[in-house]
Amino acid sequence: MYKHLIRPLLFRIDPEKIHDFMFTMFSVIDKSKLIKSAIGKIYKYENPKLNRKLFGLNFSNPVGLAAGLDKNAHAVDVLDKFGFGFIEIGTVTPKPQPGNPKKRLFRLIKNQAIINRMGFNNLGVEAAVEKLKHRNKHVIVGGNIGKNTFTTDENALEDYKTCFTALHPYIDYFVVNVSCPNVKNLRESQSNESLMNLLQELTLLNKQKSKPKPILLKISPDLTFEQLDDTLEIVEKVGIDGIVATNTTTCRDTLNYPQDFIESIGNGGLSGKPLSKRSTEIIRYIHKKTNGRLPIIGVGGIMSVEDALEKLEAGASLVQIYSGFIYEGPGFVKRINKAVLNHFCTK
Ligand SMILES: Cc1cc2nc3c(=O)[nH]c(=O)nc-3n(C[C@H](O)[C@H](O)[C@H](O)COP(=O)(O)O)c2cc1C
Repeated sequence: MYKHLIRPLLFRIDPEKIHDFMFTMFSVIDKSKLIKSAIGKIYKYENPKLNRKLFGLNFSNPVGLAAGLDKNAHAVDVLDKFGFGFIEIGTVTPKPQPGNPKKRLFRLIKNQAIINRMGFNNLGVEAAVEKLKHRNKHVIVGGNIGKNTFTTDENALEDYKTCFTALHPYIDYFVVNVSCPNVKNLRESQSNESLMNLLQELTLLNKQKSKPKPILLKISPDLTFEQLDDTLEIVEKVGIDGIVATNTTTCRDTLNYPQDFIESIGNGGLSGKPLSKRSTEIIRYIHKKTNGRLPIIGVGGIMSVEDALEKLEAGASLVQIYSGFIYEGPGFVKRINKAVLNHFCTK
C-alpha cells in the first residue's frame, strides 16, 4: 500500500516539504493517545527473542531510527509507535542554526538513494532538551551531537561538551558525530589528535556524572582502512562504548544517472542502496579487527530485510535505518524484526 499508493504521491512533492509536513502531522498525532496507540497496534512487533542488551541498555528490538530525521526530538513518542527499538535524535548543536541554503535534499529514485547537504539544521540543544523533558521514558533515545557550522576547529570541543552536558540527563546514549560531510571542517575532527582529545574530554565529563551514559562514535564510510585502524586504536584506548557505522558518503561511483545530472545536484552525503556494500564492509572489518569486542550499530543502505540481516551477520549488534524508512515506509521496521526473529532466533 505504501509503495504503490502513498509513496508515489509523496514523491511528487519536494522532499524537504514532505519532511516538514510529516512532522506537522506527527505533532498533531502526538497529542492523541488514541491515535498513537492505534499506530502502535499496527506497526509494533514484540517478541522477547528480539530483546537486546547492549552497553547496559535493554533494547526491545535491534532496529533503530538513524540520526537526522528527528533532529529536534519533536516526534520521539510518535516514531516509537512505528516499532523502532530506539530513536536517535540530532545532530544537535549548541546554538540553533538554519543549515545550508535550500535546495539541499534530493531523491535519486532509480538508485533508491538520497543526497543531502542539510548542514545540521536544528533548533539548538536547549530546544531539544525542552522536548525530551516530556518524552516517554520507556523509549530508548540516543543523542547525536555535533558542532555549529561557524565554530572554529579550536572551539569545536566546547560545542560537543555543551551538547553533552545539556542532553546528559535526558537521553540514554550519546553519538559523537565527526563524520557528516555537510559541515565545514567537521571531518577534520576525525584526525587522530583531535579525535583522541575529543573522546577523552567527553569520557572525563561522563565519569563525573552520577550515572554515566554510553558514548559511541559515528564514522564515515569514506575512511581508508588505515584511517579506520587509527580510529579503532583511539576508540579502544579511550574506552568508549561502541561505533555507529556509517554516516553518508561523498562517493558517487555507483549511481545510474548521467554525470551532468549528478553534478547539477552538487555536494552532499549519499545514503540508501549505493551505500550498503561499503557500510557493511566497514562493519565486517571492525568486527573482525576487534574480535567482536566493540559493539557496532550498523547503518547505511538498509533497503531490504536482507540488507539488515547482512549487517547483523557482518557483526552489527543493532541496526538503524533512514533512507529505507523513506523508500519502504513505516511497515519496514516490523518486516525487518520479523526477519530477524526467523533468521536468528527460531531454533
Ligand atoms: C536527510 C538526511 C539527514 C541526515 N542527517 C544526519 C545528522 O544530522 N546526523 C547524523 O549523524 N547523520 C545524519 N544522516 C545520516 C543517517 O543517519 C545515516 O547514517 C545515513 O543516511 C545512512 O543510512 P541510510 O542509508 O539508511 O539512510 C542524515 C541522512 C539523511 C538522508
